[in-house]
Amino acid sequence: MLCLVLLSQLAVSIAAPVSKCDLGKVDISGGNYTVDEKTDQVRYTCAEGKYPYPVSRRECLHNGQWTMATSKAVCRDIRCPSPMMFENGEYYPRKAAYHIGDVLSFECWGGFEIKGPENRTCQENGKWSGKTTVCEDFGGHCPNPGIPIGTTKVGSSYGVEDKVIYECKNGLEMFGSKVRECQENKRWSGAEPSCRDWYVFDTPEEVAEMFSSTLSASIEVADPDKKTTGDVDRKVRIKHGDPMNIFIILDASKSVGPKNFNTAKESSITFIEKVSSYDIEPRYAVISYASEGISIVRLSEEESLDPDAVSERLEEFRYSSHEDKRGTNTRAALALVNEMLVAQELKDNQNFLKIRNVILLMTDGKYNMGGDPRVEMKKIRELLDIGKRENPREDYLDVYVFGLGDDVSLNEMNDIASKKPNEEHTFLLQDIVSMKQAFEKMIDETDAMDMCGLNKAESDDENEKFPWIAKITIVRPDSREVCKGSILSEYFILTAAHCFHFDEDVEHIKVEIGGSGDLLKVKDFYRHPLYKPEGKKDKNVPKSFDYDVALLELKNKISYSSRVRPICIPCTKSSAWALRKKDPETKCVDHEKLLFSEELVKALFIAQEDKDMEQKDVRIKMGKKREDCLAASTKIPEFKDVADIRDAVTDQFLCTGGTEPVVDPPTCKGDSGGPLMVEYKNRYIQVGIISWGTVNHCDKFTRLKTPVPENSRDFHVSLFYALPWIKEIAKDELVYLPD
Ligand SMILES: *[C@@H]1O[C@H](CO)[C@@H](O)[C@H](O)[C@H]1NC(C)=O
Ligand SMILES: *[C@@H]1O[C@H](CO)[C@@H](O)[C@H](O)[C@H]1NC(C)=O
Repeated sequence: MLCLVLLSQLAVSIAAPVSKCDLGKVDISGGNYTVDEKTDQVRYTCAEGKYPYPVSRRECLHNGQWTMATSKAVCRDIRCPSPMMFENGEYYPRKAAYHIGDVLSFECWGGFEIKGPENRTCQENGKWSGKTTVCEDFGGHCPNPGIPIGTTKVGSSYGVEDKVIYECKNGLEMFGSKVRECQENKRWSGAEPSCRDWYVFDTPEEVAEMFSSTLSASIEVADPDKKTTGDVDRKVRIKHGDPMNIFIILDASKSVGPKNFNTAKESSITFIEKVSSYDIEPRYAVISYASEGISIVRLSEEESLDPDAVSERLEEFRYSSHEDKRGTNTRAALALVNEMLVAQELKDNQNFLKIRNVILLMTDGKYNMGGDPRVEMKKIRELLDIGKRENPREDYLDVYVFGLGDDVSLNEMNDIASKKPNEEHTFLLQDIVSMKQAFEKMIDETDAMDMCGLNKAESDDENEKFPWIAKITIVRPDSREVCKGSILSEYFILTAAHCFHFDEDVEHIKVEIGGSGDLLKVKDFYRHPLYKPEGKKDKNVPKSFDYDVALLELKNKISYSSRVRPICIPCTKSSAWALRKKDPETKCVDHEKLLFSEELVKALFIAQEDKDMEQKDVRIKMGKKREDCLAASTKIPEFKDVADIRDAVTDQFLCTGGTEPVVDPPTCKGDSGGPLMVEYKNRYIQVGIISWGTVNHCDKFTRLKTPVPENSRDFHVSLFYALPWIKEIAKDELVYLPD
């Protein structure tokens, strides 16, 4: 082992420009290579399902030779590990090697119950699908911990304090715990081991799923409006205001290069954004390291509490700050973490042990200077009083390690990362781009369901993109009407009053959400009492849309999912979190100021284009800019006898449309009742209800392709005018802020 470390140090110090080595000698059969002048390396690529053998890259050495020059490179087939042992049952087929697409089937002997999948498939990345299959007889204090494919297990009694010990098949390296112990609480200590070859990577999808479920277990969403689910297996919930430190550590060593370093910065910013959507308020510290560690943001700074400021500082930090000191001193980075923690303890000894800590380490190599980082991790654990037998306090520290590429040491990564049952803390990704993708996909599936205005913006599924949209159909014996609405809560849909007749029979109203095709029944229908279309005849307004607001109360409770979620409504506690206005003194008017702070407010609505929902970006005209809207409205024939246009376009309408400064797409008939929204840091807040427009730019529900007329304007009832009434009808549904 020592020898290996020395070799890598040697390689770093004596690399020569790639031009010095003979490129004729590096080719790979069945694949391609790229030359990287910055790192003096060539890198091999193989088609999907194959990997470069014996190495994935070569470096040009000073003697004009490539590393590992003696063996010619070839692309080989990726294989999945073979089972080494299986207890209390059988598996088939038994083969010397398992290729991509092969299926392994498991069966248990009589008296044993199968847990986990019956069939597992060898996937393209060389990992078996699904979890470990176990044949269980429920005879122990702890459940049978199983034998992950590729491992052997010693130990088969599962009483309290009994241990099992795992080994990997020759040549494979272990992630997870080698030794696990059956604990009093019927769970095994540590994390399930897995064995992998150096060329086996996690896909961004796998990482997004594993990381977000593990992270949410440690961060735990405690949405203000959320009722507890009573899941016994959960960890202690973090409540609002519970303190947390998050350390982000970025590798800036030579092999990373400026481009990848920038992608790592972007990934970190995405991560910070995602954490902010979890409704907690951590302190961030950001560290970059090569031969030395540099603190980009320190824990002790006031700005460490402000995610935007942290992102900004990260953005500004340059790879070149490390100059030419480009070693990999992982220990120095962890030493900075330790130092910041020590300072925090000195400042407030009383509360120090109440703070939870999350460390995110991204690296593409193994340490080659500064000494073993594991030593520093041990110090951090001691400082946080973690790992004691009686009270291990493991909940107070989560260390995630993201390894990039095949130059990392799996062993070192695994030793640094946390090991917890049913959780993943060690991730190995092919490259930095895969990591960025993983972070982008990372929206928690299970725990953030009832958070308002949260979507999967990158999803191909329109219902995941706009999960709060309700499609409303009113089917009367003699007519049919289509409108939209938004999900306000588990029982209420917000929409426009003009979609309905005054004596509408609730039986005629059907609501569809999440694209399920199921039509939900409506229990009650509420219209704003001040909605009086005929009420301004004396002012020559043929139809008044003031207070064009309605609420539908559903017969049955909606169940939230990634395709069905509520929208954020201003002046509620849940939108206060979305708007990052967490100060308990925050009032409704503060939301209004924040959302409408400019003369042109960027907003959007959802339009039906044939079968598909499409996002349409518009600008709400405020202040002076709103005057144009009034002027444009005077030009329509319906208002020709209106003396004061303010009688038709009252203050309660938000105005979009027109062609200045850019063309705003107009709304169509079927869009009525849908939400006009403002996006604020990946969360969506409804500010208006689509009501009426000056120009019909649609043929039935199809948008015309002709240019948008100059005097086209759309008007939306401002939620700030509708709120007092919403509060009255749906008073127990949401927590509202004082005016
Ligand atoms: C190698 O490069 C060629 C030309 O760019 C491409 O057609 C081929 O698919 C590549 N092969 C692999 C295995 O990536
Ligand atoms: C597992 O595979 C076998 C054989 O291919 C098949 O008969 C069986 O239905 C599969 N089981 C499940 C649960 O998919």
